[in-house]
Amino acid sequence: MSLLLEVLVILLRRRFLKSALYFASKLDSGSNSSPSIMKSSELRKKFLDFFKKNRHIITPSSPLLPSDSTVLFTTAGMQQFSQYLAGEKDPLKDFKTRHLTDCQKCFRSDDIEEVGDDTHNTFFEMLGNWSIGQDEKGNYFKQGAIKYALEFLINELKLDKNRFYITIFRGDKEISRDNESEKIWQKYDISKERIKEFGEEDNLWGPVGEVGVCGPNSEIHYDRGKEFGCGRKDCGPNCPYCKRIVEIWNLVFIQYYKDENGNFQKLSQKSVDTGMGFERVLAILENKPSAYETDLFLPIIQEIEKLCSKKYEENKKTFRIIADHIRGSVFLISEGFFPSNVEQGYVLRRILRRAIRYGKIIEAKPGFLIPLANKTIEIYKNIYPEVFSKQADILTVIQKEEEKFEKTLEKGLKEFKAQSSKLKVQNHNLKLKTISGKVAFNLYQSFGFPLEMTKEMAKGEGLEVDEREFQEELKKHQEISRAGKEKKFGGGGKFSPKLHTATHLLHGALREILGQKVKQMGSDITSERLRFDFSFERKLSSEELKKVEDLVNKKIKEDLEIKQEEMSLRQALNSGSLAFFKEKYPKKVTVYSINSFSKEICAGPHVKRTGELGKFKIIKEESSSSGIRRIKAILEK
Ligand code: ALA
Repeated sequence: MSLLLEVLVILLRRRFLKSALYFASKLDSGSNSSPSIMKSSELRKKFLDFFKKNRHIITPSSPLLPSDSTVLFTTAGMQQFSQYLAGEKDPLKDFKTRHLTDCQKCFRSDDIEEVGDDTHNTFFEMLGNWSIGQDEKGNYFKQGAIKYALEFLINELKLDKNRFYITIFRGDKEISRDNESEKIWQKYDISKERIKEFGEEDNLWGPVGEVGVCGPNSEIHYDRGKEFGCGRKDCGPNCPYCKRIVEIWNLVFIQYYKDENGNFQKLSQKSVDTGMGFERVLAILENKPSAYETDLFLPIIQEIEKLCSKKYEENKKTFRIIADHIRGSVFLISEGFFPSNVEQGYVLRRILRRAIRYGKIIEAKPGFLIPLANKTIEIYKNIYPEVFSKQADILTVIQKEEEKFEKTLEKGLKEFKAQSSKLKVQNHNLKLKTISGKVAFNLYQSFGFPLEMTKEMAKGEGLEVDEREFQEELKKHQEISRAGKEKKFGGGGKFSPKLHTATHLLHGALREILGQKVKQMGSDITSERLRFDFSFERKLSSEELKKVEDLVNKKIKEDLEIKQEEMSLRQALNSGSLAFFKEKYPKKVTVYSINSFSKEICAGPHVKRTGELGKFKIIKEESSSSGIRRIKAILEK
């Protein structure tokens, strides 16, 4: 080929490519199209491939245990990126790009009451894309986020654009109305009538915890059709009466940091954070009322039918709750959580026991959770290998909890019935319809009924539970058992800063040897010994105890400095300092660190160097309460 001809071919090819790209960037008409029916694995792949094609790096899902210890679970895809979004870390260093995409495992326990409807789950997956910071060519903000979302839904999934509703932020005293997004949606042919404005409740997203990144958001909602609706004239997105129109994709325009005082500080950079409800979109694509009828849940639902005498069609809500809770439990246990009476362990216990109780309603065979867990593992093993590699642990934990609860469930239910009937007979003319906190506490203490379960049963009978009294009873009980244990040990004594520093070393060592899920649950120091309670389900083996002891002694030998720094709570949490969930901290906190081994928000006092401690010796390891272990240790000269 002559040189001239070659140049001509190259030019023509370029031109062709350019026009192909031009057409690719245009949206399909988006009407009269029928959605592509697809399996869950295809949808995940399609989403990630689409953003990969558009220069995003696919990142793996982070665990359900969030790095930020002030919240219980990962509830949104952005949590693993929050430091990049806040501008505290440069994504280019870790990912070599500012464009990311993922499919994130999430767990939300706030919506537990709504599980069983068409759109809520405890465990779920969130698909997302991010553009972090705007200072570079190629980064996108509102325009790019909206364009990508529409392109994906219309061109790739073939969803009918005429079924979309859009929500935007109405604006308030501090943050102005999102006129910019409104214009962009209109530019893409979404009519003004289809764009609705809402206040901060719906359209100002975040932060995940008390403090953190946040911003106005714009959501895409999908109209599932009349048959799902309430029939009201003003029915629309966020309708309080029906679920006809469901939110499928949330586009957040991160621009603020909400601080400890509730103020919105403007960030130096703007970013995009999006989250698409995987289960919801799948149900729409498969033309099913909910995810329970898709390949994500159907095998579990069918298995439940085999294990009981009832049919799904007549018992939808009960079946769905069981299926959701077994799936949530499988994922939580696969990450090392155990049923207990605190924090994540309590949530796990609650969903497992709730599933068992709902199993009774449909007369499921005892032990029914095991085959359901196996089905769940089957469904997810190729996507999340941890559910398969942890299969033995998952089944053991579920079986143990089921056995434990079965022993007391019938008796507890009888007790509850007796109490509620008594209450109704005694008060049938009165307004007083409250189950006392003492009764609820007895159900908790003697029969293992989580408070929420008693509340739910009470609600079913038109009754309430005196929660305040329940909490008081709980506190009383904790104080009594603490005092008893104290007496046994000789009690009292002066506080020792050496033992306090040893406690931090012990905490660090336990986390290194047993895993990061170990968290301090309590501590008591006298002049002679330390006592440390921490979350962990089983007894520690003697090898594990030896490893922990050796590691603490190694750190003592290294004669490390204990550094004390004052900083804002935000800085402390971002630098990975350990804090206790739900504890109220002041704005300025003190952080004690022992090089990178230990870093805790703490009021002190401590010694200057670990070398001052002497020899660390564990003298006892025992159970403190369900899911909590206790170590007592001393320092020898
Ligand atoms: N972070 C946003 C959400 O969770 C996308 O909805």
